Amino acid sequence: MSERSDAPAHVPAGAAEEETSNPLTAATIGEVIGARFNRREALQGLTAVAALSVLAPLAGLAGHRPASAAAAPSSLAFKEVAHGTTETHVVAEGYEAQTLMRWGDPLEAGAPAFDPASQTAAAQAKQWGYNNDYVAYMPLPHGSAASDHGLLCVNFEYTDAHLMFPGLKDGDIDAVSREQADIEMAAHGHGIVEIRRDAATGAWSAVKDSPYNRRISMLLSECVVAGPAAGHARLKTAADPTGKKVIGTLNNCAGGKTPWGTILSAEENFNLYFAADAAESPESANYKRVGIKPKSRHAWSRFHDRFDVAKELNEPNRFGWVVEIDPYNPKAAPIKRTALGRFKHEGATSVVNKDGRVVIYTGDDEMFEYVYRFVSKGRFDPAAGAANSALLDEGTLSVARFETDGSLTWLPLVFGQEPLTAANGFASQADVLIECRRAADLLGATPMDRPEDVEPNPVSGIVYVVLTNNRKREADKVDAVNPRGPNPAGHILEMIPPGATAAERDHAAQRFTWSIFLLAGDPASPESGARYHPDVSADGWLAAPDNIAFDPKGRIWIATDGAPQLGFADGVWAADTEGAARALTRMFYRTPIGAEMCGPEFNSDGTAFFVAVQHPGDSKGSTFDQPSTRWPDFKDGMPPRPSVQVIIRKGGGIVGV
Ligand code: FEO
Ligand code: CA
Ligand code: CA
Repeated sequence: MSERSDAPAHVPAGAAEEETSNPLTAATIGEVIGARFNRREALQGLTAVAALSVLAPLAGLAGHRPASAAAAPSSLAFKEVAHGTTETHVVAEGYEAQTLMRWGDPLEAGAPAFDPASQTAAAQAKQWGYNNDYVAYMPLPHGSAASDHGLLCVNFEYTDAHLMFPGLKDGDIDAVSREQADIEMAAHGHGIVEIRRDAATGAWSAVKDSPYNRRISMLLSECVVAGPAAGHARLKTAADPTGKKVIGTLNNCAGGKTPWGTILSAEENFNLYFAADAAESPESANYKRVGIKPKSRHAWSRFHDRFDVAKELNEPNRFGWVVEIDPYNPKAAPIKRTALGRFKHEGATSVVNKDGRVVIYTGDDEMFEYVYRFVSKGRFDPAAGAANSALLDEGTLSVARFETDGSLTWLPLVFGQEPLTAANGFASQADVLIECRRAADLLGATPMDRPEDVEPNPVSGIVYVVLTNNRKREADKVDAVNPRGPNPAGHILEMIPPGATAAERDHAAQRFTWSIFLLAGDPASPESGARYHPDVSADGWLAAPDNIAFDPKGRIWIATDGAPQLGFADGVWAADTEGAARALTRMFYRTPIGAEMCGPEFNSDGTAFFVAVQHPGDSKGSTFDQPSTRWPDFKDGMPPRPSVQVIIRKGGGIVGV
């Protein structure tokens, strides 16, 4: 979502914060960057010996391919989709996209058919939610590698009232009714649907009334709080004097899967739902640091006291967590895992380290915020099943400081270790986790250009960090790891744990190295500073990378959120990560007008590719009554509907070959 005050003409509402909350940016950059350097010199050649160490990561980009490589043979053989903007979506020739689930489709048993003209909160609570985002494919049966049968677990990040209800304009929250506010709350959260591929036709479909089919909503679903902040006084409210039970999960953006078969769903821009038009309180600085404003971006605080900070001071401390969901157990309550910290989590991806500890990577998506890592204290036990979840409650959360010499240091966020002490207002580990950003500020973490997905490539063990953009980074505030200011197109980094292979890498090490995978933008424009494989085509370049997936061959599939600001619709681009065609991005799928691209996810063998089309039709001036597209139904009276698409090769086979 975007703060609109200083945004360009129209920023897709799904784009995260356009405002910065980090007051320490300049000072922190000054501390981190020992030696500033000229970006153009940096990209065009090494003009000073002193720059060599700073630039080693960029030199490393070229080092991944032979300098003599001509017309690189990408392993991705599809014919590229063209940049453009149309009312419908476009997929590469030879592939087909099927609509699997749309906003409003009945999900839980007893759910009514979707009727946008007379929607109710009760109906919405059993139907597919709005603005599908993260997608996970979980095979059935549990523990199998089934590629034709599974559960699709999907986040519903936020709502666009002006596209959901008649008579509203964008930002018209004072006109939203109580029932509409409750529909919005019911449309947030998560959904789980059983899906199957038909062996004869290759088509995928949802299993109607499956016992796995389930909605988790902001309106009705009780979540449990676990970990060091559970039950803390700062999490207690009138409705929950225990500080351990929260109704709902909010602004669930991306996520990840655990090795024991649960989902980690990340609460991102939770601040936008609260109104803090109140006198100074003990939480004022905390709430300012996460961007809570006097006026909410939603109407909910008019109808539900818990979103009004003046009436329920602690409610915002109960959001901004990573939430664990067990899709195989429909009765299991979602669990907010506080050991992973409280901030605007984009996602949370996991890897079992070579010593058995579980490592979670997670980014804080706002300009000048940080990249984090959690390392469990205990070790994963494949025989213990869901009992492994307790690993998420005890361990060490750290934040990344990227050094100019191409190394990276993980700084532990541990109460009692300087400077995270009483002298700085921390009385416990719970305080450190609740005010994670402030703790990370004090440690000198590196402010980044909006960290989105942070995800290990399962083939190489290298961890990819997607930085979507940062319009507010000034030219003289660049650093080695965020080398452009402003940075409207974003970039993708690699964090490299020690070790030569995926199995050998030590994800728990205190020091990694890092390199730049690509600098997005138009490579034909010298001002852009873009950097890819030199053979990237006029359609192969991208902007505003957001969510990523790796296919079984370790190739990266990049979904974007913000390409319209550079003139074309968001979509999916794919590239090899190693070899002669490294960073040779190619366009595979284009969303309909107004949408951003979320999800991307493969089934177990890479024969199905799932994408989530979020806020289709959310272009300037578009409303429920007069939308810029009616995708995917194209029926009079039917608004555009966010939906999950499954993309397959015509005739079957591995996607992308
Ligand atoms: Fe919800 Fe950072 O995208
Ligand atoms: Ca997004
Ligand atoms: Ca995202």
